Parts: sequence; structure tokens; C-alpha cells
Amino acid sequence: MRGQSAAKLGIGVVGCGNISMTYLRNAALFGEVELRACADISPDVAALRASEYGIRAVSVDALLADPEIDLVLNLTIPAAHFDISFSALSAGKHVFTEKPLATSARDGRRLVAEAAERRLLLGSAPDTFLGAAGRQARRLMDDGAIGRAVTGTAFMMGRGMEHWHPNPQFYYQPGGGPVFDMGPYYLTMLVNLLGPVARVMAMATRGQEERLITAEGPYRNTSFKVGTPTNILSLLEFHSGATVTFGASWDVFRHSNHPIELHGTEGSLRLPDPDTFGGTVSLSERGADWADFSSESELYGARNWPYAAPDRANYRMLGVADLSRALISGRKPRASGDLALHVLEIMEAILASGESRESVAVNATVDQPPLLQEDEAASLLA
Ligand SMILES: NC(=O)c1ccc[n+]([C@@H]2O[C@H](COP(=O)([O-])OP(=O)(O)OC[C@H]3O[C@@H](n4cnc5c(N)ncnc54)[C@H](O)[C@@H]3O)[C@@H](O)[C@H]2O)c1
Repeated sequence: MRGQSAAKLGIGVVGCGNISMTYLRNAALFGEVELRACADISPDVAALRASEYGIRAVSVDALLADPEIDLVLNLTIPAAHFDISFSALSAGKHVFTEKPLATSARDGRRLVAEAAERRLLLGSAPDTFLGAAGRQARRLMDDGAIGRAVTGTAFMMGRGMEHWHPNPQFYYQPGGGPVFDMGPYYLTMLVNLLGPVARVMAMATRGQEERLITAEGPYRNTSFKVGTPTNILSLLEFHSGATVTFGASWDVFRHSNHPIELHGTEGSLRLPDPDTFGGTVSLSERGADWADFSSESELYGARNWPYAAPDRANYRMLGVADLSRALISGRKPRASGDLALHVLEIMEAILASGESRESVAVNATVDQPPLLQEDEAASLLA
């Protein structure tokens, strides 16, 4: 249900840190959503954001009780995602949350069940698969450009966070690690293209028992213990029969692996970094040279971020705009809680398999979200 006061979906942001600036700025792109208030555990941070974007700063409780707020946009840290989203649903608000949906599949299931029981919509980042490259890849897959997908690879590899993040310790404890932090982008894109995952096998190690913080800040030149695997290689078996290698590592200085490649009975498809909305998708038909599909001139594909000197496409908030339209049309949002829950189940299964060294079934399943058609994508713009 929308607030009585206006036709637009009234948004209240909870969590006014780093990523909130992207959402707050991008909100103006979309015609059916309206920023109304923001809140943070730190009132000063909320007041700063409110003054920057011309909205009201309120307490979290006041935001949840505010009749002008139809949807709570949860941009808090992962450990707070469940509590804030559950409270918002309990207060009768629709929810869109940053990733991951929750830090355990058990909590994720509770959120999905609560939203369903209250007939509220629950959406979750990432919405990058709705960007220009994600839509292009999905159209090619749906058109049968590579035939039946047989195999593929997905790699998220880097050196981790301690070289740039002043306070990186939490990334290296249970609930953190490269699978939970970055896995949602890769796995959501794969499920969008290939459908649900049935079973996983994984091996998980850590390249270093301790890490040295070299970033500027209060902890510079101090070390901390690593409490979770930082190097995970996994095999994903999709219900379709496709099998994909997914590697996520913070123990890699440099590499040449493509973010995602899929290979089918008729050809091969190469995708750009799924943490962005743009980039180039490439198709090889039966071994021919790669044909490139650039996103630059496509909707939600042009470089717009960082704002001072854009080098990538960042249209976070697109998933919220799609959810808003879903509310009007009586359909499910594409970046749905169900999809995020399936991704959470896959991530949990990967880590469980890494521990047990046995394959782990992913019990729940999900439908592939329907392709976001170009005319509908355009109609979301203000
Ligand atoms: N920073 C990025 O580039 C980025 C990119 C994509 C996704 N994300 C995701 O966005 C989320 C937030 O990341 P961030 O980098 O903005 O973190 P951040 O630490 O900069 O901001 C989080 C904010 O949430 C507030 N907060 C924490 N617990 C709260 C609570 N219980 N109630 C109210 N406010 C609370 C904090 O005070 C802080 O201002 C994370 O889930 C992260 O995975 C971040």
C-alpha cells in the first residue's frame, strides 16, 4: 500500500553511510519514487545526508512510524540488515535492502515469510543485473545465442580491503569474507542467466592467518587475525544441468580471468564485472571472433560514477524503481527477496561445503526474474 499523501512511493533511508550517497543521488532519476526521510544510528550522519538531499532527518523509530514512508531502504551494515528489515516489515513498510539479505539463510527465510504474510514487497540488492550489460546478456541467452549452457567460470579475485579501508577487520570475520561480500553480484547474475542452483562443492582456505593494515587511519601498521576463509573455489550445479566454477578470493595480486564466461552448445558469452551496470558483453557464435555489445549508449549503461570522473555505470536504485512499478502492476519485484534468499542459500552452502569437504544441496529454489524489457526500463525514468 502507498501512503495516502501522494502517488509516488515514499522512501525512508535507514543507514546514511558510504553507499547511501549513490542511492540518494540516483533517486532523482526515477519518476515513481520520492525520498522523504533518512535515519542513522548516528544522528549527525543522518542530519548531514538530510541537508545534502533536502529531506528530513529523523530517528529510526520515527521513520518506521511515519505514515509518509511507504518503503524502507535499508543501507545499514550487513549485521543490522535483518533487524532493520524485520522491524520495517513489522511496521507495515515495504523493504529494499542492501546485500546480503541477511547474514544467515535462516534469517533470510524469516524476512521472506514475514513480507509474504503481511503482503508487503521485499527487494534486495544487487540490482546490477537490471543494468545494460545484464539485460543484453539475458536477451542473448533467452534468444538461444549460446544454445544450451553447459559450463562456465566466474571469478572475483583481489587482494582484499586492508590496503584502502581504514577499518577492514570485520571483512575477515565470520559473516564477512569474499563470498558473502562480493558473491551476491556474481551469483545473482548467474541465477538471472541460468536459473537456480541445485548443489555446490567447495574448497576454502586462507592465504594468510594474519593481515597487516596499510591503509591510512588509526590501525595503520597493525595486524589482525583472519577468522574466515579468504580463498574459496566452488563448483555450482544448476537445475538446468549447467556446471559453473565460481572462485572468490582476497589472496590474489593480479589475474587475467574474465569476471564471467558461459559456454553452451552454440557458442560462448563473456560478461563484464557484475558489480557494475555497464561494460561490454561479448558473444562468440560457434567459435567465431568475439562480437562486442557495448553498454555505453544503452539505458543504465553509460558511465556516471564516480561523479567527479566517471569510469563505470552505477544506477543503484533501479531495483527500487522496479519494485515500485511491481507494486502498481501487482507483480513481484525483479530484484526480489526470493532471489536474494536463493543467493544467500548458495553462499551458505558454499561455505558449508568448504568446511565439510562434501557437496551440499541448495534446498530452496527460485524462478528466474523476468527480463526487464527496454520499454519498461525507459518508463521507470522521471
Ligand atoms: N560502500 C560501498 O561501496 C558499497 C557498495 C555496494 C554495497 N554496499 C553495501 O551497503 C551496505 C552499507 O555499506 P556502507 O559502505 O555504506 O557502510 P557504512 O558503514 O559506510 O554505512 C552504514 C551506515 O549504517 C549505519 N548503521 C549501522 N547500524 C545501524 C542501525 N542498527 N540502525 C541505523 N543505522 C545503522 C551506520 O552508522 C552507518 O552510517 C552494506 O551492506 C554493504 O555491503 C556498500
